[in-house]
Amino acid sequence: MRTELTQAKLAAIETEVLAVLAADTQTSKAPDAKPEPVLLTADDAVKAAAAAVLSTGEYKAGANETLLLHAPAGLKAKRLLIVGLGKQAKATVDKLRNAAGAAVRFAKPRGIRELVFALPDAEVLPPGPNTRAAVEGAFVGDFDPDTYRSDRKDQSIQSFTVAASAGSDRAALEAAFAEGVIVGESQNFTRSLVNEPGNKLTPTLLGQRAALMAAEVGLGWELHSTEKLHELKMGAFWSVSQGSAEPPSLIVLRYEPEGVTGGPVLGLVGKGITFDTGGISIKPADNMEKMKYDMAGGAAMIGAMRAIALLKPRVRVIAVVCAAENMPDGKAQKPGDVQTAMSGKTIEIINTDAEGRLVLADGLTYAKQLGATHLIDAATLTGACVVALGYANAGAFSNDDAAWAKFDAALATSGEKFWRLPLGEEYADQIKSDIGDIKNTGGRWGGASTAAEFLKVFVEDTPWIHLDIAGMAWVEDSKPYIAKGPSGVGVRSILEWVRSY
Ligand code: BES
Ligand code: MN
Ligand code: ZN
Repeated sequence: MRTELTQAKLAAIETEVLAVLAADTQTSKAPDAKPEPVLLTADDAVKAAAAAVLSTGEYKAGANETLLLHAPAGLKAKRLLIVGLGKQAKATVDKLRNAAGAAVRFAKPRGIRELVFALPDAEVLPPGPNTRAAVEGAFVGDFDPDTYRSDRKDQSIQSFTVAASAGSDRAALEAAFAEGVIVGESQNFTRSLVNEPGNKLTPTLLGQRAALMAAEVGLGWELHSTEKLHELKMGAFWSVSQGSAEPPSLIVLRYEPEGVTGGPVLGLVGKGITFDTGGISIKPADNMEKMKYDMAGGAAMIGAMRAIALLKPRVRVIAVVCAAENMPDGKAQKPGDVQTAMSGKTIEIINTDAEGRLVLADGLTYAKQLGATHLIDAATLTGACVVALGYANAGAFSNDDAAWAKFDAALATSGEKFWRLPLGEEYADQIKSDIGDIKNTGGRWGGASTAAEFLKVFVEDTPWIHLDIAGMAWVEDSKPYIAKGPSGVGVRSILEWVRSY
């Protein structure tokens, strides 16, 4: 998708579609109060073109509600697409991001390949964040997980233009615009990885895809496998991979900005289970195919590293992705086995399906050994987190209020929804083992928190954030602004957290 920025007068823009936002200005809560949609533009010609249809009451400007007008009078554009933001008083940059995605997804199936998206005026929402969000939303909307269809017709938008008002500062707009492109493309890179089935993206191939990207954007990278796992005594990580014919991949990506020698080193650790059968504690057949997305945490870290390399924050970052396939086999680990993690802690395996925490245990230890002073991990870790928060929020945990405050602030920019859940001694007690230091499951209740407590054993006192994205990494039902399939959740928030250091 080509992207452009313009500050031309809307009426003068020649395009297939000019998309303009509308919001509902009705503030009365009376039962007979009708929506009062208004166009969010100061352009009189555009307002005039839409006046007649808006006065009918047919269109309510609900969130992502679209209305298409052909041959709009007085405009050079062939079509005028009105996209709703919902109530004007509740308009946010995040809703605008979605509206841009909705405009793109409106155009795609109709064979429209070119789109101009007009930003609202500065009084409604800030122009810089708007510009970035509009571009991000367009990339997110443009993505469809259809690469394996032999009858695939590429319906991607070829040209997406953001139209900002003439009064906005050009340099600021351009900077925000460039960020939007990098972030949107990085999120889609993550989504393309997550979409790959287990047979097309083994741990080794995930490593290769990460290395290829790293070489492109100028990140340092290393790929390791079985031998290195043994050398580092990564008994927990290795135990997951031992039941698979596919060797594990320990993926390390390094961002070392020139001239930055002191300060924090941020460690990004991702769960990269390219397929999770559950192992000997095998999962039921229903929906097992979904477990190809069990590497979404690792993919989020790889996508975030791409954006970091291109946006160049003044802080060192190391990503460690632990990729393996969790399979049942004659060589697979068994419930009751005891594994010794890289840190030296012993783990009693109760359930081989609680494998994510095992690979992360060694990944976190390794990130610390490589010098990480602050840690963040992302993983499709527990079904319990999905039970707790559904598909509306991802779970987050932290042992450090300062690190969390920065992450919380990052959410305001990213627009992603994470809800902080508790750690605590009671949960830690649930994973005490009778025969070793800890066990890998803590019983039925509080499963997201006991999993987080398990990770905390390896994090120790290092400031740390844990993101459980099990419910949010896959969009179960398509929305007007995003296709059903991989969401790329985490990329934007992790990036903003890194940039806050
Ligand atoms: N990958 C799963 C978690 C998961 C569940 C991700 C649903 C996405 C959607 C993880 O490896 C797992 O199997 N967790 C178990 C842990 C249990 C055995 C303690 C779970 O949540 O059931
Ligand atoms: Mn599992
Ligand atoms: Zn898993």
